[in-house]
Amino acid sequence: MFTVLHTALERLIVKGKSLLPIVQGGMGVGISAHRLAGTVASLGAFGTISSVDLRRHHPDLMEKTGRSRDKALINQVNLIALDREIKAARKLSGGNGAIAVNVMKAVEEYPHYVRQSCESGADAVVVGAGLPLDLPELTNDFPKTAIIPILSDVRGIAVILKKWMRKNRLPDAIVIENPRFAGGHLGAPTADRINDPSYAFPTVLEGTRELFKQLGIEKENIPLITAGGIHSHQQFKELLSMGANAVQMGTPFAVSEEGDAHINFKRVLAEAKPEDIVTFMSVAGLPARAVRTPWLDNYLKNEAKLQSIAKVKPCTVAFDCLAQCGLRDGISKQGQFCIDTRLAYALAGDVNRGLFFRGADKLPFGSAIRPVRELIEYMLTGLRPAIEAVTSPGVRLNAEPVPA
Ligand SMILES: Cc1cc2nc3c(=O)[nH]c(=O)nc-3n(C[C@H](O)[C@H](O)[C@H](O)COP(=O)(O)O)c2cc1C
Repeated sequence: MFTVLHTALERLIVKGKSLLPIVQGGMGVGISAHRLAGTVASLGAFGTISSVDLRRHHPDLMEKTGRSRDKALINQVNLIALDREIKAARKLSGGNGAIAVNVMKAVEEYPHYVRQSCESGADAVVVGAGLPLDLPELTNDFPKTAIIPILSDVRGIAVILKKWMRKNRLPDAIVIENPRFAGGHLGAPTADRINDPSYAFPTVLEGTRELFKQLGIEKENIPLITAGGIHSHQQFKELLSMGANAVQMGTPFAVSEEGDAHINFKRVLAEAKPEDIVTFMSVAGLPARAVRTPWLDNYLKNEAKLQSIAKVKPCTVAFDCLAQCGLRDGISKQGQFCIDTRLAYALAGDVNRGLFFRGADKLPFGSAIRPVRELIEYMLTGLRPAIEAVTSPGVRLNAEPVPA
């Protein structure tokens, strides 16, 4: 059993729950499932399950649907998997911390994932990859569930606040994710906009506090959670002094011992050098950041050709995971690969064929894979665990090219 950690720092309060000011970001497909989120929560922090395609962690559900082209069945078993994961995370947490579910707005099943998360007792629903204008009404029947948008600039925050205020609802917290450093899908319209100064934390924190004043909601104390590239106690303290109430980390948790992915997944992320990390256009129509593994390298070399012959075709995996998919819908300016297939390969540790999302910055413990407890303790106190020399055999990123 885990023991809850304590801190003298100000705690993060979300819908009356008092938490350590550390949030583990949702990571799909299957990278943050019950083990990671439940462990984070067990220590008194905020753990997040990624909702998308969780059947991949359940052999019985995969057996039913692995080769199936029955979309309704795949969607149905994914809701069963989500329910199981939320309950397993809750059990592992021992009732400590908070268990959230991350749902991407860009996912076709978004409303159903949101509803299932609430019904299965998630403490919060956190939505990114699009503007969740309709989240208040989707969660109306579940007043105890916190609703948290992930946004990147003051403009996006203003749109959500104004729209939600007309529905008499405010966010229970806001995640501010900087596309310059974060992993996975990024909140900038195109890859060449990710370094835009409007996404810098000081600008967004100050602008958001100003916006709260303009809207007369500064007394509501909506917590602001900064995310993207946070990897040291020093940075964490600086962000708190700038007005953040907590920090969210993705990549550092993905490579933790309790991360739900295969060990090869963790090694690829932990051992990537700065020059191995790239941003490119995803099939979801958003820029994304990942490690340039053999498949991605080969895909990027062929991207222009694949885009020039883009045409509408049936979904590769039959369940239309994205509401709008560059590959299925033949949208030539978007990515041209099956994201579910590629992320599933990565989850299973297939270094040659997988798509390995990763943030741009270095990691708190270099290439070492350490327990979640040490990561949270380090972020809170600045005390580093004694880390032995890395003994990992490493992973090869320069294997033979594979087809896109
Ligand atoms: C492997 C991976 C998968 C991710 N998947 C998602 C996701 O499904 N939904 C989401 O909102 N954010 C996703 N993210 C973003 C993280 O939740 C987090 O906000 C971001 O990575 C923070 O930056 P950092 O990795 O530098 O800490 C993902 C990030 C990584 C590294």
